Amino acid sequence: MSGDINSLKSFNTFAIDASAQQIIIVETAAELSQAWQESQETQRPFLLLGEGSNVLFLENYTGVVAINRLKGIKVTEDDDAWYLHIGAGENWHALVEYSLKNGFSGLENLALIPGCVGSAPIQNIGAYGVELDQICNYVDVLNLRSGETEHISAAACQFGYRDSVFKHHYREGYAIVAVGLRLNKIWQPVMTYGDLTKLDPATVTPQEIFDSVCQMRRSKLPDPQVTGNAGSFFKNPLVSAEQAATIASEFPNMPQYWQENGQVKLAAGWLIDQCDLKGYRNGGAAVHRQQALVIINQESATAQDIVALAHDIRQRVGAKFNVWLEPEVRFIGAVGEKDAVGVIA
Ligand code: FAD
Ligand code: EPU
Repeated sequence: MSGDINSLKSFNTFAIDASAQQIIIVETAAELSQAWQESQETQRPFLLLGEGSNVLFLENYTGVVAINRLKGIKVTEDDDAWYLHIGAGENWHALVEYSLKNGFSGLENLALIPGCVGSAPIQNIGAYGVELDQICNYVDVLNLRSGETEHISAAACQFGYRDSVFKHHYREGYAIVAVGLRLNKIWQPVMTYGDLTKLDPATVTPQEIFDSVCQMRRSKLPDPQVTGNAGSFFKNPLVSAEQAATIASEFPNMPQYWQENGQVKLAAGWLIDQCDLKGYRNGGAAVHRQQALVIINQESATAQDIVALAHDIRQRVGAKFNVWLEPEVRFIGAVGEKDAVGVIA
């Protein structure tokens, strides 16, 4: 199927060999609207994709997949900040490099996250102590039914951990077409995570943080160009303080992160690792040896291999810790998104 012009293999970082009935690259909002309109007229499902780095295609898609390549970066400034207005189809990491090169700091902790700028608000991408919500100013969405663009302020995006209004109210019938970022001119380095704590706060530069983040990421996370994967397969679970304390009484070294609302975030990778699952395989899918939260396409994995492996991981962690992991990756069936927990339960 991979030689097929309708193959999705090169449009998803898991490199799952699924097909779509039609794949269209869209470069303008007008082309996007037209692709959606045609899918409606022919009564076919419609899916907008960035770089496919957070999706699992469960089967062949029986509709139109539009690949978002809306480009363009506009920069303005005032005394306090730089304001970037970015087309949703720009590559995220290229934006981080562009901003550093031009002296706009604030994105360096988010280096090397795959995917498009327009996808970043959907799960409020985050890494190494920074989440998108800290720098997001607004998101522009196209209402596909009315053809109108709606300007959504950061406050209205309802950002949470791997969550936003774009997974809820704006999930169907809307396309993110641009993202606005606000980067403060007074730089405040974030050096709370991993090797960043070893940098010298007196002399640290954005480039040093960028380099350190890239190095840490390359040591743990597989490059999708080489080994198919979608980053963290599961979200880090949020549990009650009581449940965290119960587990910690048996496992005193368990990483735990207290949240403002009193809940505790646990490290799913640690929980999986404690079940001795690094390297564990199901068909062509395996648990990554350097980071247990990542499922890799080790050898021509099918979606069913990945689903079966995810099921096993969830059961093993659930049986040991009574913590039930939920996928971060979005599951796409023949006609649209499916409830990922339901699929692997
Ligand atoms: P896609 O996978 O193409 O799409 C994701 C979902 O959003 C789909 O449901 C799609 O239909 C929808 N969608 C896409 N574009 C639009 C749009 N314009 N409008 C409306 N809906 C849209 N994430 C993190 O947060 N932090 C990390 O550190 C991180 N590390 C990663 C490392 C690796 C190696 C990989 C492979 C992934 C990692 N991820 C991480 C996950 C992923 O990079 C992010 O979720 C990214 O934002 C997805 O972008 P994408 O363009 O590939 O989205
Ligand atoms: N750990 C283990 N064994 C493992 C993996 C992790 O013991 O196999 C432990 C680590 O030692 C550490 C803790 O678990 O104490 C957390 O691990 P890590 O720092 O690698 O981060 P993570 O919680 O596994 C999250 C994000 C990543 C993001 C990193 C860095 C989620 C679901 N994942 O991973 O995001 O890059 O933090 O900030 O929140 C993604 O979303 O796709 C993603 C890669």
